[in-house]
Amino acid sequence: MPEVTFTLNGKATTATYETGETLLDVLRLGLGVTSAKNGCSQGYCGCCTVLVDERPALACQKDVNDVQGRSVTTLEGLPERARQVLASAFVAEGGVQCGFCTPGVAMRAYTLLRRGKAGDRESVARALDAHLCRCTGYRRIFDAVAAAGEAWETGALPDRPPRRPPRFADDRATSRGIGQRPGVGASAPRYRGEDLVLGTKPFVGDLRVPGMLHAAVVLSEHPRSRVASIDTEPALSRPGVVRVLTAADVPGERFVGLVVRDWPVFVAPGEETHCVGDVIALVVAETPTAARRAAAAVRVDGETLEPLTDPSIALEVGAPRVGPAGNLLESCTISRGDVDAALAASAHVVSARFTTQRIEHAFLEPEACLALPTTLTAGGENGVKVYSQGQGVHDEQAQIAAVLGVERGRVEVELVSNGGAFGGKEDLSIQGQTALAAWLLGRPVRCVLSREQSILLHPKRHPMVLDYTAGCDAEGRLTAVRARILGDSGAYASVGGKVLERAAGHSCGPYSVPAVDIEAKAVYTNNPPSGAMRGFGANQAAFAIEGVLDLLAERAGVDRYDIRERNVLRPGDRFATGQVMTASCGALAALQAVRDAYRSAAHTGIACGIKNTGIGNGLEDTGRVILRVLEGGALEVVTGFTEMGQGLFTILRQVVVHETGLDPAVIRVVARSEAAALSGMTTASRATALGSMAARRAAQALAADLRDHGPAELEGREYRGEYVCDFTVPPGARADNPVTHLTFGYAAQVVILDGDGRIEKVVAAHDVGRAVNPLSCVAQIEGAVHMGLGYALSEDLPCEKGRPRSLRLRDLGIIRASQVPEIEVILLEVPDEVGGYGSKGVGEIGLVPTAAAVASALAAFDGTRRTALPMRGTAAVTKRRGGRRVEAAAD
Ligand code: FES
Repeated sequence: MPEVTFTLNGKATTATYETGETLLDVLRLGLGVTSAKNGCSQGYCGCCTVLVDERPALACQKDVNDVQGRSVTTLEGLPERARQVLASAFVAEGGVQCGFCTPGVAMRAYTLLRRGKAGDRESVARALDAHLCRCTGYRRIFDAVAAAGEAWETGALPDRPPRRPPRFADDRATSRGIGQRPGVGASAPRYRGEDLVLGTKPFVGDLRVPGMLHAAVVLSEHPRSRVASIDTEPALSRPGVVRVLTAADVPGERFVGLVVRDWPVFVAPGEETHCVGDVIALVVAETPTAARRAAAAVRVDGETLEPLTDPSIALEVGAPRVGPAGNLLESCTISRGDVDAALAASAHVVSARFTTQRIEHAFLEPEACLALPTTLTAGGENGVKVYSQGQGVHDEQAQIAAVLGVERGRVEVELVSNGGAFGGKEDLSIQGQTALAAWLLGRPVRCVLSREQSILLHPKRHPMVLDYTAGCDAEGRLTAVRARILGDSGAYASVGGKVLERAAGHSCGPYSVPAVDIEAKAVYTNNPPSGAMRGFGANQAAFAIEGVLDLLAERAGVDRYDIRERNVLRPGDRFATGQVMTASCGALAALQAVRDAYRSAAHTGIACGIKNTGIGNGLEDTGRVILRVLEGGALEVVTGFTEMGQGLFTILRQVVVHETGLDPAVIRVVARSEAAALSGMTTASRATALGSMAARRAAQALAADLRDHGPAELEGREYRGEYVCDFTVPPGARADNPVTHLTFGYAAQVVILDGDGRIEKVVAAHDVGRAVNPLSCVAQIEGAVHMGLGYALSEDLPCEKGRPRSLRLRDLGIIRASQVPEIEVILLEVPDEVGGYGSKGVGEIGLVPTAAAVASALAAFDGTRRTALPMRGTAAVTKRRGGRRVEAAAD
């Protein structure tokens, strides 16, 4: 193999490489560098930023020969003081969430520190345009860079409150919780935050174990084709290839799925492919490069068929069948009152069609899995241990066990780190195939998807068509809503039926409507699968109902704020499903918190949001936590929920500290598929509400024992906490108060445009029930608003004949750092009766109203009502700091 010699972090280094490998490949595969991450290999995300001869460079774009004789510096090689300054600043300012992008960003920040530019927002924003962050919305990264710059100059670490402390609606001390004991209600520092910044907390793609093999997937080339044969010989004969797995190798269930088992881990000869993300084979080889090249040699023969891509056509009689029992995946209807009569008696009636687009989650960490064969039982039975980045260790465990055809206990799944998910890592991606490879070969196997494969494989946000007719009286009070919603669920069920169920439930937003007639259908097609994504159907419904409210306001001659205040849910009112709102309903409070902002400028838009917390709709919702006292009194917190940047592990540690008074330094948190921690999927903003309740119960039991014993005396003891919600009913259930959901979060957002119609500021008021960690809450909302602005203006994943037009990150329309407007978050706490400490969940609702608020602002600016997302080609692009405008949403 050829060799390259260069100076790495001050040391002369010689590394071997395979032809075509990049500097990033050599650093990560050959030299064990973990701070430089592989987010895209397309030169767009910035996660692999290093210094070459002291200048920032993207390692994925550097031919390894280019660094021969030169100096390469990674985050590991920075001076210790710079590392400390950067790590402390990012944690103190809330500039790190999932942490996958952060080492690359920190590397860039270091160059700004050295140039004395860290305090110059314009320079920082421009420099960060070379990076993608999908979690933070960038503004807390700007703060972190500025704080690091100050510390770099003064020599002191940034250990003060963040520059922009969380703000509460009632203007209580704005830095409440900062510097307190890191219990509930304090802005406690992120769990292992400094390790995330420095890249020393590994992700799955960073793990290496002795004897590890590497796997690469072979995906379908056609969205719909009948596979006749799969020829693996050309791959098997390539150097370094160990085995090629296909459908014939699956000993157990070949179909997996969270709700419907319709998704093959491998498509078998004789079957049809359903989308371009179908897995045909898995090539296992000694190196990733060998596996990837051999995967390209697998030959698939068959008949190419015309893909079914229109959900309306998919429902016609005689349409080719994509779903196992027909193309209608699920239909949800909700009916209350006499809608026809109510519309007939209404002073004003409007009808409109709204359309929303398919978008990609674009989490920065592509899917990855490491599986190891294990001997788990006393009887010597073998099993498999899976290191995952998925959203539910227990669901993964159950599905992998089914694929292997073994009982669940022989599979153990542990979360490593999760570099962002937003719903896109709920379904199995390559965990089943990778576990199977380790199981059959008796060797550790790791599979890491490329960015292109990641985009093809996981489900997207549903494109929907929403037809609304709604009426109001002369004062703008809603009388009735009729909605027909059609969602393209693509190739597999995933949780598509549940997303459309949620769209139906949230079809009237946070408004009281006396008569409703709602029908939502999820439909199979040969498009990429659609499934969970932050907001889970509520976003599409919010875009429609908020647009309808603006239209009615115009028709009735009522102000857009006033029409909302007249209709917004109050305690005692009914949600669309008929559920009666309790005293914890903070919808009105959220709306009133943005009233002044709405009235503060000539061109503003307003929208409200509601989002359920917890699964609800008749399904049991459980959170469980185990506290285990380890040697010397250290404490392990075991949960089944995933930390994916939302701050769950930080919160669980806060709860334990709050209840027990233990030092946070002795507490570690893990997500592992232990039966006693069974908690289900990390979805629906439920992890904090349910997990903190479960942790509280366990911690209170521990606290009782700590009254009489020191922690070390309790070594070996275990404390379990559980919270079960089993009182919800499905939508449409006949009950006086059909409680379809555990609880809800509420929001109101105002978008302020400048005189040229460009977004200047977003004000976001959110009732979170209880801000268990205020800084985390605010950071989550800022990141969500950034995502919501992209959804409104530019994000899209258009497909042609079932195939995404582009698999490049740069074509997804994600808003860059310099284009993010000012975002002001106002927290409200209307405590919830059931969520832990009153919490309601904040992860999803942050962007539920954003697109509608943008549409409302645009209509106020130019009088045109937009009913299709994204709102491209409009003037409503964001504004670059310092006055330079950037066409974020240009066609
Ligand atoms: Fe930036 Fe997650 S913290 S992508």
